[in-house]
Amino acid sequence: MHTQVGIIGAGPAGLLLGHLLSLKGIDSVIVENRSRDYVIERVRAGVLEQGTVDLLIQMGVGERLQREGLRHQGLYISFAGQRHHIDLADLTGGKAITVYGQNEVVKDLIDARAATGRALHFEVGHVVVHDMESNRPKITFERDGREEQVTCDFIAGCDGFHGICRPSIPEHAIKFYEREHPFGWLGILAEAAPSSEELVYTCHQRGFALFSMRSPKITRLYFQVPPEEDIDNWSDGAIWDEMLKRMSTRDGWKPNIGPVVQKGVTPMRSFVAEPMRYGRLFLAGDSAHIVPPTGAKGLNLAATDVMVLASGLAEYYTRNSTRVLDDYSEICLRRVWKAQRFSWWMTQTLHRFPGETEFDYRRQLADLDYLTGSRAAMTSLAENYVGLPLDVALA
Ligand code: APR
Ligand code: PHB
Repeated sequence: MHTQVGIIGAGPAGLLLGHLLSLKGIDSVIVENRSRDYVIERVRAGVLEQGTVDLLIQMGVGERLQREGLRHQGLYISFAGQRHHIDLADLTGGKAITVYGQNEVVKDLIDARAATGRALHFEVGHVVVHDMESNRPKITFERDGREEQVTCDFIAGCDGFHGICRPSIPEHAIKFYEREHPFGWLGILAEAAPSSEELVYTCHQRGFALFSMRSPKITRLYFQVPPEEDIDNWSDGAIWDEMLKRMSTRDGWKPNIGPVVQKGVTPMRSFVAEPMRYGRLFLAGDSAHIVPPTGAKGLNLAATDVMVLASGLAEYYTRNSTRVLDDYSEICLRRVWKAQRFSWWMTQTLHRFPGETEFDYRRQLADLDYLTGSRAAMTSLAENYVGLPLDVALA
């Protein structure tokens, strides 16, 4: 079997790339080691930047997103018992974010892929990439007990942080930058109507907490815990107790309580691989970089990577030019590092670090007081939160 672009991984990066290529008339094969249901049901983040929403609509996969997505023109920063509103739209010339679960995006993209009739294989085993330095790289994998092989013009490594593509690159050809954080997030989905129309990021003496949502009936909540925290240590009652302690404000606002339908602990990591390319293998999304979720940038970075990659591949096939492909890594990494900077800033502004003193906490409160009182500081938060522009023109 031969295809133009072999795509490994059917997360947001792989599926978006497959659809962008399909719209440009470029053939691809997507291989995914998990099942279709697993991929659709995996609960992940849910904030889409304006640019990501625009991209999905332009690609013709924004119909349900426009119907069911919740457009937010602002957010709250809460500390010392008070919520402070940040008007994203006012501060950015009308930009906003949209809350729409990543798993919903994935579902829409799988449906769109099915409608094109192009190959998407779930539950494949033993995926290996070969000959990335040659003009005919190859993917081998097992499907229904048989060994299969796909030769490609290019391979896109969209297989997330734990995938096989990045580790297939020889050590001398790639460099990793990494930072582990001294906490994780305990997250729940609850059947409770959101008690705020916008997200609330809280810095409490007991630690960070975040109020978010998925729909008019489902609330999504998180709080900071030690990185190795075992979810089994937390009964639903204890989770609600801690949520209420951290989130309740002096004006009486608090989240509505309801049955917990999903819960888990996610570690926090910052990671960048440079360059995002080896020969004819291109890394995109979480396989190349991870940001802590505080800035809500993960999915949006994956979307920009594949936008650049699809445009580079289109330029190669239509004009026989490698101009954008040659610059792929540099174009993406410039934005990735700015998102790392912002995610790190949001994280350290809002979390409590082990070993901090009373002095550190008072300084942190002053930082937040400055942030929510200065239009300049709020503008900086807002323009990063809604998404920085990609600094290049793509075909
Ligand atoms: N072979 C095939 N598929 C694989 C392999 C493998 N060896 N290893 C992993 N995969 C699949 C995973 O099962 C997953 O479906 O690759 C996919 C990677 O998807 P994501 O982890 O969602 O990564 P990405 O598509 O880059 O999306 C980035 O996801 O983790 C979130 O917050 C992150 O929003 C960001 C987004
Ligand atoms: C979410 O709704 O899951 C969410 C929202 C904002 C974040 C992270 C996660 O910063």
